[in-house]
Amino acid sequence: MGERLKDKVALVTGGAQGIGRAIAGIFAAEGAVVGVLDIRAEEAEKAAQSIRDAGGRAHSYAGDVSQRETFSTAVDALEKLYGRFDILVNNAIWVRYNSIDAITEKTLLRMVGTGFNSVVWGIQVAAPAMTRSGGGSIINIASAAGFLGIPSAMVYCGVKAGVLGLTRSASVDLGGSKIRVNAIAPGSVVTEGVTINVDEAMRAKRIARTPMGRLGGVEDISAAALFLASDDSTFITGESLLVDGGVTHAFS
Ligand SMILES: NC(=O)c1ccc[n+]([C@@H]2O[C@H](COP(=O)([O-])OP(=O)(O)OC[C@H]3O[C@@H](n4cnc5c(N)ncnc54)[C@H](O)[C@@H]3O)[C@@H](O)[C@H]2O)c1
Repeated sequence: MGERLKDKVALVTGGAQGIGRAIAGIFAAEGAVVGVLDIRAEEAEKAAQSIRDAGGRAHSYAGDVSQRETFSTAVDALEKLYGRFDILVNNAIWVRYNSIDAITEKTLLRMVGTGFNSVVWGIQVAAPAMTRSGGGSIINIASAAGFLGIPSAMVYCGVKAGVLGLTRSASVDLGGSKIRVNAIAPGSVVTEGVTINVDEAMRAKRIARTPMGRLGGVEDISAAALFLASDDSTFITGESLLVDGGVTHAFS
């Protein structure tokens, strides 16, 4: 166990699997108390239990991140238990790639609700609690898609570009309260979520275009999240960190 986040109190949305699960794990391994928030209650509790089994401190919270109350319930509970709240990772999302003509109101609202509105509510709820704690770090998981024009991903690219924009604005508003707001923009990472949208042929194409010659692992993203959550990055705010093996900047 390390001490880079010793006694910090964190909440990770979409923490039951994939990138969120890895971030929750590394935060706990570095001494933080972690709230694992997910819409799937049982899976969130399983993730929290496996963190506790590994000697860490974790609680699970169930709720839909597109609703503001989901954040206030979890943040209030953590603040009541530990007297502080320091780190929020806005990671959860529901995504489907679709051609423009196949976008429905239901899929549009669900993607925007989970991928964009959630970040707004998370920041709005976390900021006062972090201010009471003397500052904090908010990490929004955006995507390389926020910089790119991925085919059949108009809503996803738009949602993630929006997250990059709100990250910059929120960093200006919250700097005076010593709250840093940064984004991580992953390239393709092998998770359950990405398997639904990116088939084998697309994956091979992406690997071929990536200077580092591979897709990302969840640990690539959790390492960046740890850096942005920790005191190693106290002068970094409003930034968007691509963690993509170089693919976004590669021209081919
Ligand atoms: N995997 C990739 O290649 C990749 C690339 C770039 C960016 N990202 C971003 O990283 C983040 C995590 O991606 P992932 O691949 O680990 O996703 P994932 O789909 O594997 O996991 C998402 C988690 O969010 C939860 N969730 C979904 N809707 C929710 C809701 N309404 N309320 C609460 N929880 C909800 C799910 O239950 C799940 O546990 C996302 O923001 C995604 O856009 C992923």
